[in-house]
Amino acid sequence: MGQRVLLAVGGGAAAIKAPLVVRRLREAGFEVRTLATARALAFTTELALATVSGHPVATEGRWFAPSGRVLHLELAAWADLVLVAPATAADLARAAAGLAEDLLSATIVAGARRVLWAPAMNPEMWADPAVQENVARLKARGHAFAGPAYGAMAAVGEAPGLGRMLEPEELAAHVRYHLTEKDYAGRTVLVTAGPTREHLDPVRFISNPSSGKMGYAVAEAARDRGARVILVHGPTHLPDPFGVETVPVESAEEMHRAVLDRFPEADLVVMAAAVADWRPAERKGEKEPKTGEEKHLRLVRTPDILAELGEQKRHQVLVGFAMETHEGLSRAYAKLKRKNLDLICLNYPTDPETAFGADENRLVVIERSGRTEAWGKASKRALAERLLTRALGFMQKPV
Ligand code: CTP
Repeated sequence: MGQRVLLAVGGGAAAIKAPLVVRRLREAGFEVRTLATARALAFTTELALATVSGHPVATEGRWFAPSGRVLHLELAAWADLVLVAPATAADLARAAAGLAEDLLSATIVAGARRVLWAPAMNPEMWADPAVQENVARLKARGHAFAGPAYGAMAAVGEAPGLGRMLEPEELAAHVRYHLTEKDYAGRTVLVTAGPTREHLDPVRFISNPSSGKMGYAVAEAARDRGARVILVHGPTHLPDPFGVETVPVESAEEMHRAVLDRFPEADLVVMAAAVADWRPAERKGEKEPKTGEEKHLRLVRTPDILAELGEQKRHQVLVGFAMETHEGLSRAYAKLKRKNLDLICLNYPTDPETAFGADENRLVVIERSGRTEAWGKASKRALAERLLTRALGFMQKPV
């Protein structure tokens, strides 16, 4: 049974996204029930929320749960977390004052264990001192906040500003963070992700099709488990994950510098980046016009970042990736030894189902002892979780 999330929908324009929030929460594995204020139902519908959650919606004027218990008491006891999305200024004010005036505020006052607020309002309202005081009071009581973000407002003619509700998938990610056991608390995890670009001139470069998804999944999973996470990434199309320190780099040399700089702080390093092994021997300062029928490029080696970490490592656990198209196991194990790693994950880039850019992957994980396990096709996030659990076994107890 998944953990239980009550989505309490407040009466703002962002309530139109509430059914999508339910979808994203369910996709993340949560059991979801919904509550909607009377105003929320001016923007979204009871039928939409009931359809996507698979449960009746708690609405104003319904006093009792099917069990016969008072509805707000039942809901507060049922939910592992109450997500208020969107939360209006009035919802925040009622909760801060303990004014159990409607079903939403009554549920929160009735002892909801964890409350996560996703405010959505015009920037002028969000900036108002009364609203900010209420936010501070709720935070002091242990309530958490997700957003608001800077962005476009629903009402026509309003300028963009700070007050937009986070997107449904971001809210699901925040909920997951709050409901995950913090078995990585006190640890620092350094992750690399994505490709590198090795420039020939300002507009041409050598690179590879790495999407960065595997490394980002590791970074997000480690963050959810309470680690301090540093993500050194090459150019990707992925948004910066919240709660992660991101260090954008472009070339292998830049990644080398950034990773070595942060290595002393790390307890675990996961090198998921597809670092280019070669770079053009020279980088032209200006774009070179094409001439002649042939062009010869001279390439030189980039630093092997992971091999250097292997030489420098003290307490750090090192995880590498290997991409092989043939003789995978023996080549990957030799790589583990050569680079002094604790674990190496073997990928199969030529398998069309799990190739570059896919959301799923399959890995063969080899330990230093030679113990080898094949992890069948699963989401990159699920594989990241397994990898972190395995790496934890190699780590010393936190001091
Ligand atoms: N790696 C690195 N620095 C490089 C190249 C690779 O740190 N310049 C890391 C990758 O992030 C990955 C691991 O080393 O975790 C394996 O990379 P790969 O290129 O497959 O291994 P190589 O040792 O370069 O071996 P081969 O030439 O056989 O591919």
